[in-house]
Amino acid sequence: MSTKTKIFGFMLVMITTFMILLSCCSATVYKVGDSDGWTAKDGMYREWAEGKEFHVGDSLVFEYDRNFNDVTQVSGALELEYCDSSSPKAVYNTGHDVVTLKEPGYHHFMSSNQSQCTSGQRLDVLVVHDPSRPIPPPLPRKILPLGKTYKVGDSEGWNVYDSDFYNKWSEEKQLHVGDSLLFEYDNEANDVLEISGDLEFKACDPTSPVAVHKTGHDLVRLTEPGVHYFISSKTSHCEAGLKLRVVVNFPKLSPINRLIRWLRTLISIQI
Ligand SMILES: *[C@@H]1O[C@H](CO)[C@@H](O)[C@H](O)[C@H]1NC(C)=O
Repeated sequence: MSTKTKIFGFMLVMITTFMILLSCCSATVYKVGDSDGWTAKDGMYREWAEGKEFHVGDSLVFEYDRNFNDVTQVSGALELEYCDSSSPKAVYNTGHDVVTLKEPGYHHFMSSNQSQCTSGQRLDVLVVHDPSRPIPPPLPRKILPLGKTYKVGDSEGWNVYDSDFYNKWSEEKQLHVGDSLLFEYDNEANDVLEISGDLEFKACDPTSPVAVHKTGHDLVRLTEPGVHYFISSKTSHCEAGLKLRVVVNFPKLSPINRLIRWLRTLISIQI
């Protein structure tokens, strides 16, 4: 590579980094339903969503009474139409959920409480990808390093087995961002909840999952470093050992990604 090409490449990286940094701070946070919050609403929030333009990186805040509601994200308009929450993409139920819109396209949300949903507690938003606003960090999925896929429990799969089995299984693994976990099990007897806290993990508490998987053949991509917890929503199964705690390390970066990361830190210090 000539020096000129190198300098040009360097500037290109600088400019891209700057644009990524700028885009991070212009993301909008919308409170769903404004002062009404997330509740049964005439017209299924169409009026609320009208005139708003949702972009990748924006967030929705759902506020509601968690005693008889939740936010269930489903994959299609039909599920929304029939208030069918039987195979959700994700379930949030803290009562104050911040959902970041990470991908362009339609996103469908409803309450899994059938009566609430049929009286209008459902929302679909169209998220557009504005080319002048590149996808903000963290690194979008597509540029995550291609990782390995680990079948949880190896040939045993995801089953009640032995109380220490999944502990031992995960201790032997070195997981990195970009890797995936494959959970295989009988979906009539089990499921996989991703939960967020160590206390919830110890107590086998399934009440505030970050994500719910229940196809019986779930591939879960590890997109963030840190500790990740998975349990069965069946408390007795979880207590019998059907729970998994994994530590995910930072991705192994290629030289160009390392350079981008270094530049990002450099710029953010100067701002
Ligand atoms: C569903 O919502 C109604 C209020 O519309 C509430 O009375 C009921 O308890 C809720 N059901 C569940 C299962 O939370």
